[in-house]
Amino acid sequence: MSDFLIKKAEKEHNLTGDELAEILGNDEINRNLLDAANRIREKYVGNDVHLRGLVEFSNLCSKNCVYCGLRKDNKNLKRYKLKPETIIDFAQKAVSYGYKTLVLQSGEGDFYTTEDMIHIVREIKKLDAAITLSIGEKTEEEYKLFRQAGADRFLLRIETTDKQLYKKLHPDMNHENRINCLKTIRKLGYELGTGSLIGLPGQTVESLAGDILFFKEIGADMIGIGPFIPNRDTPLKDEKGGSFEMSLKVMALTRLLLPDINIPATTAMESLNPQGRLIALQSGANVVMPNVTEGEYRALYKLYPGKICINDTPAHCRGCITGKIHGINRTVSKDYGFRKKIFQSKS
Ligand code: 5AD
Ligand code: SF4
Ligand code: FES
Repeated sequence: MSDFLIKKAEKEHNLTGDELAEILGNDEINRNLLDAANRIREKYVGNDVHLRGLVEFSNLCSKNCVYCGLRKDNKNLKRYKLKPETIIDFAQKAVSYGYKTLVLQSGEGDFYTTEDMIHIVREIKKLDAAITLSIGEKTEEEYKLFRQAGADRFLLRIETTDKQLYKKLHPDMNHENRINCLKTIRKLGYELGTGSLIGLPGQTVESLAGDILFFKEIGADMIGIGPFIPNRDTPLKDEKGGSFEMSLKVMALTRLLLPDINIPATTAMESLNPQGRLIALQSGANVVMPNVTEGEYRALYKLYPGKICINDTPAHCRGCITGKIHGINRTVSKDYGFRKKIFQSKS
């Protein structure tokens, strides 16, 4: 039955929640699923891999997500906040290494003024690069100002679509508000990125199936999927964490249902498996986000333990990932890597 469902997904790019849950619950058909996602990736987005340079510009956060090492109540973390000029400098260096997109990521909160953020976006926009922001929940006015300043894309993971679970994991946040943020971001003409954590305590295959359907419904242009990795400085320190295989399966199904979107091979996947990003690139992914943060800050941006590349330089990572991509007969894209839409979303 599951094999039939994979064929159906490959042909029609549609499955029900029950069908998705059945595939997620059956490990005998994993090879077929990953191969089908790889074929659909090649057919719709080709062999190019888009590289996005990730600048982790501050690990300050005013939220308390119970899985995350950057949470406000974690006192075991040395906090940093890069000066606007340093952020722009890291971006400049990244562009000189050939990056066509910069992702500016930080914890959430008002640690930078809106004017500062606008200045940073404007200056980086003068370089020849697209800009993705990943700075959490903001007001509509702020999203609008950042968009006007030149930001092209926004990443805001829904983390889980299971409302009860969301509430437990995010004591100071609101699920509805998060969905509203995603809608606002889309309305303002950003490319919209979202995604989920896999293997959260209490998360079921049914709830993961719901996540995949949500990605389609919200009209996402990018989906980042990664395993939850327990961090000992958080309340979830004794939990089991997500598996590499389940993360890969959710990612592959996302590719089958959303053939033309951008899907990163996430850093968290490689943290669980030394070949994780390459395996992901051969199971539906077409994007990698190498770290372009310089110096000690890499290690301080500690969402979870075992994060890769913390002692490497941006130049080294660039060379490393290019070599790996060529090693699996793929090419590094030379363009900005916007989604080339073939399918229109429903909403
Ligand atoms: N394991 C894996 N991913 C995590 N994130 C936060 N904490 C963890 C963890 N312990 C992810 C969240 C967030 C992104 C920036 O990092 O999904 O959206
Ligand atoms: Fe802050 Fe994001 Fe971590 Fe939540 S997941 S604590 S908002 S950095
Ligand atoms: Fe950083 Fe390979 S990508 S060392």
